[in-house]
Amino acid sequence: MSVDKKVVLITGAARGIGMGIAKCFVAQGASVIITDLDESMTQAAAAELGENAMGLVANAASQSAMSEAVSKVLQRYGQLDVLVNNAGIGGPKEQFEEISSSDSALLGITDDVWDEQLMFNLRTAFSSSNAAIPHLSEGGNIVNIASIAALGPTTTLPAYGAAKAGVVHLTKTLAMELAPRRIRVNCICPGLLWTRAWEILTTQMKANQPELANMSQRQIFESVVEDITPLGSEQTPEDIGNLAVFYASSNARMITGQIVAVDGGISVK
Ligand SMILES: NC(=O)c1ccc[n+]([C@@H]2O[C@H](COP(=O)([O-])OP(=O)(O)OC[C@H]3O[C@@H](n4cnc5c(N)ncnc54)[C@H](O)[C@@H]3O)[C@@H](O)[C@H]2O)c1
Repeated sequence: MSVDKKVVLITGAARGIGMGIAKCFVAQGASVIITDLDESMTQAAAAELGENAMGLVANAASQSAMSEAVSKVLQRYGQLDVLVNNAGIGGPKEQFEEISSSDSALLGITDDVWDEQLMFNLRTAFSSSNAAIPHLSEGGNIVNIASIAALGPTTTLPAYGAAKAGVVHLTKTLAMELAPRRIRVNCICPGLLWTRAWEILTTQMKANQPELANMSQRQIFESVVEDITPLGSEQTPEDIGNLAVFYASSNARMITGQIVAVDGGISVK
């Protein structure tokens, strides 16, 4: 799909959706650089992707760390064509003991949790874009990963939803700003995917809702999918990756500033 030989930098891609996006680009002949926070996880994921991949540790919310990562990409490949802003955290941070302070109800959210959600889910896209934009090739692409939580009110993840709505807005602003350089900027809103983010969310749901006590985390996830997804099944990282590849290809050459939900119809209801 004409992303052959393109150089693609994907943030937060050592697992989950980012890894799925990376696989889709590699399958189409692109060179892929994945970034994440943990060295061994990042290098293991890059090795799994094969010889057309490189792994770098970089916090996507830090312009200096991302500038360093971009320099390494330019040193090795001599160009940067696509940035995928995927890094984000769905609920509370990794540690399950932090669940009590999580983003679960607007009035209970502390300033710190609010700031953390905005830093991990919105500043990540801003800081990484700022580091990459001066070096993106003319006709290049930015693909932002938001969420269906960006598309309407969410009482369960209000800070996350606000951050992801910011990603939607940032997409449109950057699309206008970068159009003169023919850089296109588009956004994907994933629906429900069984990744680490949902493992954490279902742990939180189990802790907060006694009626779920006898269900496994996976069963809780499946029941949510069944309840709210018109097409009846969960989405996969490759479902997201296929659209990212399309956005970055010349087949989408007149598409910019667009927001597409890959959610089995959830956001239409
Ligand atoms: N899983 C879903 O159902 C779902 C739905 C909608 C949107 N999303 C979004 O998709 C993206 C990927 O989520 P996922 O489900 O694959 O989650 P995940 O937790 O499985 O993967 C996210 C990866 O990003 C990394 N990461 C987090 N913050 C980072 C940072 N500041 N710098 C670098 N790496 C960082 C994590 O270490 C992790 O490896 C996120 O932006 C998430 O909000 C997920």
